[in-house]
Amino acid sequence: MTHIKSLKHTPLSRFAFGTMQFGGTADESASAAMFDASCEAGINHFDTAHIYTNGRSETLLGGFIKDQRDDLVIATKVAYDGNGDPAKMQSDFDISRQRLDMDQVDILYLHQNVGDDLPRAMEWLAAQQTAGIIRYIGLSNFASWQVMKAVSLAHDLGTRIDIIQPMYNLVKRQAEVELLPMCSDQGITCASYSPLGGGLLTGKYNDGAGQGRLATDPRYNKRYSLDFMHETAHALADLSAEIGVNAATLAAAWVARHESAPNPILSARSVEQLRPSLDAMSFEMDDALYARIEALSPTPPPATDRWEERS
Ligand SMILES: NC(=O)c1ccc[n+]([C@@H]2O[C@H](COP(=O)([O-])OP(=O)(O)OC[C@H]3O[C@@H](n4cnc5c(N)ncnc54)[C@H](OP(=O)(O)O)[C@@H]3O)[C@@H](O)[C@H]2O)c1
Repeated sequence: MTHIKSLKHTPLSRFAFGTMQFGGTADESASAAMFDASCEAGINHFDTAHIYTNGRSETLLGGFIKDQRDDLVIATKVAYDGNGDPAKMQSDFDISRQRLDMDQVDILYLHQNVGDDLPRAMEWLAAQQTAGIIRYIGLSNFASWQVMKAVSLAHDLGTRIDIIQPMYNLVKRQAEVELLPMCSDQGITCASYSPLGGGLLTGKYNDGAGQGRLATDPRYNKRYSLDFMHETAHALADLSAEIGVNAATLAAAWVARHESAPNPILSARSVEQLRPSLDAMSFEMDDALYARIEALSPTPPPATDRWEERS
């Protein structure tokens, strides 16, 4: 096998843009405008998935990147259903590459943990890499012990896990416990998703009449249904008003500011929505503000219970 370079050798922009709304809540022209605004802001890393918007997301992204292909890092995903059968992944990935109109995709993620299929899924990913069809291997929505199993399998296959994609935001902080420290320890890049909690942290649901994903998608409504999450959104809105910085800017910048330096994946349905998130790229968050925002939601307990002896 040829020497596989780590993703650390590919300069990724500090933030990424996610195209889950392309061809859905964002029509073609709104999608194109967000793609252009992201590029102008310095983003070179774009995320999609086989499953998004019945393929419209991959098709639109593939059309937009044409004349800049070599300057961009494009990620897609297979196995959303947790099925790591190589034949199924191969046929889905072939369709994804046709939609993207790309012979080689930079990052291919397993969208979900594939359970007992992991060894053959890793063999299939390694074979794609050896054939030059993908450059980097990623895992999304995996627990850290599952990632470490894949790290071991990848090592035996002469390759590595380059990147993970977990959920991470001010009201979904589980990643702090094991995933983010694991990334620092293992030299794995982390492109975290949902920096705004699907829109909750913009504060638009604070009056009970907000329009958007949490009102229309029962999965997201349930995901962000705990009282403390809404209390945090209120508190972030108060802080935003106090210091005169958009709550979305604060939420996205806070994610990026974690000591492990994750690369948040921004998204929106329009350029107007996207602007405050893009502003996070140049927002300097000092230690005091970081700590104030961190205190707006509960810190998750550590991974081991014998914490009282730690200083
Ligand atoms: N691997 C996975 O399983 C997974 C899962 C989810 C996402 N992702 C990736 O991560 C990307 C980002 O995730 P996400 O969309 O959940 O991110 P997010 O930043 O938490 O939520 C973005 C949503 O918030 C709302 N919003 C954004 N800016 C706003 C503003 N200024 N005012 C009001 N509402 C605003 C919009 O939804 P509404 O207009 O509908 O309210 C927008 O679509 C996705 O595109 C995808 O690439 C991956």
